[in-house]
Amino acid sequence: MDLNNNNKSMMEPAVFEKYESNVRSYCRKYPVIFTRAKGSLLYDQDDNEYIDFLCGAGSCNYGHNNEYIKGKVLDYLAGDGLLHGLDMYSIAKGEFIQTLQDLILTPRGYDYKVMFPGPTGTNAVEAALKIARKAKGRSNIFALMGGFHGMSLGSLSLTTERSARDACGVTLSNVTHIPHPAMMPEMDTIAYMDMLISNDHSGVDKPAALIVETVQGEGGIFVLSEEWLRRARELCDKHDMMLIVDDIQAGCGRTGSFFSFERAGIKPDIVVMAKSIGGIGMPAAIALVKPEYDVLLPGEHNGTFRGFQLAFIAGKAALECLVHDNLEAECKRKEGIIREFLETRVPKIADNLEVRGMGVMWGIDFGEYSPLMAYDIRRRCFEKGVILELCGREDTVVKIMAAITIPDDILLKGLGIVCDVMAEAVANPIE
Ligand SMILES: Cc1ncc(COP(=O)(O)O)c(C=O)c1O
Repeated sequence: MDLNNNNKSMMEPAVFEKYESNVRSYCRKYPVIFTRAKGSLLYDQDDNEYIDFLCGAGSCNYGHNNEYIKGKVLDYLAGDGLLHGLDMYSIAKGEFIQTLQDLILTPRGYDYKVMFPGPTGTNAVEAALKIARKAKGRSNIFALMGGFHGMSLGSLSLTTERSARDACGVTLSNVTHIPHPAMMPEMDTIAYMDMLISNDHSGVDKPAALIVETVQGEGGIFVLSEEWLRRARELCDKHDMMLIVDDIQAGCGRTGSFFSFERAGIKPDIVVMAKSIGGIGMPAAIALVKPEYDVLLPGEHNGTFRGFQLAFIAGKAALECLVHDNLEAECKRKEGIIREFLETRVPKIADNLEVRGMGVMWGIDFGEYSPLMAYDIRRRCFEKGVILELCGREDTVVKIMAAITIPDDILLKGLGIVCDVMAEAVANPIE
């Protein structure tokens, strides 16, 4: 494959349009054919360069083709290392587990068993649900409105986005959705959950667990406060429920610490992770489970691809990168740059735009405008060489997801383009 396209033979989109399923989605938003990627830059077959503010939806926290991680992967391949291993013991898996223990869990005083539930985020969420229901002997789960937890049936029952739910064709059940505190700021959502559980006329079954994203990614970049998270932990303890944190998008350093809940000083009973846990976009997921909840019997959760060894190699190297390159501090430094830039520029564009986020995960809320506005911004950004996604209700939040490793000049250039485009779009709205 000639990724630099030296012979200039162009692939046509027809191969996708003709043969690939209609369900394809991101490709419709960025309709070019990509060839290569490095750091925070993507390239198409015409060698056009794009600043990546999509970041593999959170899978590329350490940058595309990160040299250190890629080097370890190449060495492993060159040595004919085992690639597929089911869940058999292997050096690659053992070293990943040990590194996670030594670099992340032990220094934080966390005691978790590591479960490999399958290669995607939704696999990890399904496993967490199964564990909670089995451990507590209850079927109901509390989840927050606006949450996104995956597309397989159990995870989808937690996910609230209407089109995703409508497409599944069956009744989604055994979940009680609670308003996110940002949706109803006047409401004490913890007190509401307490009442639902305590009041014998609430009509709501006591749940096995509460699952939260500490920063809603797909839901519109809504950050749960430290106080809310601490009260949620207390609520779960009070009612013998498990607290599950879905750190699939916000984890792996993206919010400024390896786990997104560290700022609140809480310990969830289960943490689910995927996306950047695979280092450079390798499919991998884990569920970290408190030992007392390690209740699934051998094989009760299974799957062929729970042992993709290259993901273990890349995942171990990524943890080394995070610690040795001090990427948590680097993320906080980038947070300062992004916050200052957006909080200076955005109010000058319009006074009804809310800026929200932390670390390298940000949103600018265009909910006061027609949904067409945000679509227009995404399109214009792409034309100017920035790839970003939308999130939130009716896709009205412009989402900025940078790699932690993004160089300052590329970050500032990208932010400048996004702000210029937002200003143009607000000045010349399409109807
Ligand atoms: C918070 C969260 N949970 C779960 C998932 C599902 O992960 P996957 O797409 O790997 O199944 C996602 C994906 O975007 C996510 O953002």
